[in-house]
Amino acid sequence: MAFKHYTLFSLVFLAAASISISGAQARGVNLCAKADYPALCLLLVKGETDPTRATESVIYRLIRQTKKAKKHLSRFGTSQSQVIQVCQESYDDAIYDLHTCLDNLKSHDKAGFNSNLSAALTDYVTCDDAFGELGETSPVQNVNRKLRRMAGTGLYLETMVH
Ligand SMILES: *[C@@H]1O[C@H](CO)[C@@H](O)[C@H](O)[C@H]1NC(C)=O
Repeated sequence: MAFKHYTLFSLVFLAAASISISGAQARGVNLCAKADYPALCLLLVKGETDPTRATESVIYRLIRQTKKAKKHLSRFGTSQSQVIQVCQESYDDAIYDLHTCLDNLKSHDKAGFNSNLSAALTDYVTCDDAFGELGETSPVQNVNRKLRRMAGTGLYLETMVH
């Protein structure tokens, strides 16, 4: 029964897809085909077909979202609090690393890009860990999870740059 439903859904989806997906979107689908989070990947890539531009737009988006996260964090304490300070510094480090990623992309430095984006991803972990060490749940854990998934998507998309 479940299989039948699935098959029917697939057929309907395929029919709808062939009608409504433009060429550009279809190529965007290809770009995201092997992503860990295909839906998030598609959202980030939009109709972009060029892997370099797709990666770049993910990095710009991450910079904006990290700045937003930093602002959001201030609702949970002042910078007098050490754990808030750790998180704010992590976000600042991430923003710095993400800007370096843009330089790395421009200079076709794949290894540099990888290590800088991985560093940004680790910065989001550092923030949550700071709360964990106090035996507290990070109030920004959902935000940080999203940021890590976005960074992961950036790492994935860059592997298609040749
Ligand atoms: C970032 O990339 C640069 C190359 O532009 C590299 O020298 C540096 O080590 C990288 N930083 C990190 C944190 O990996």
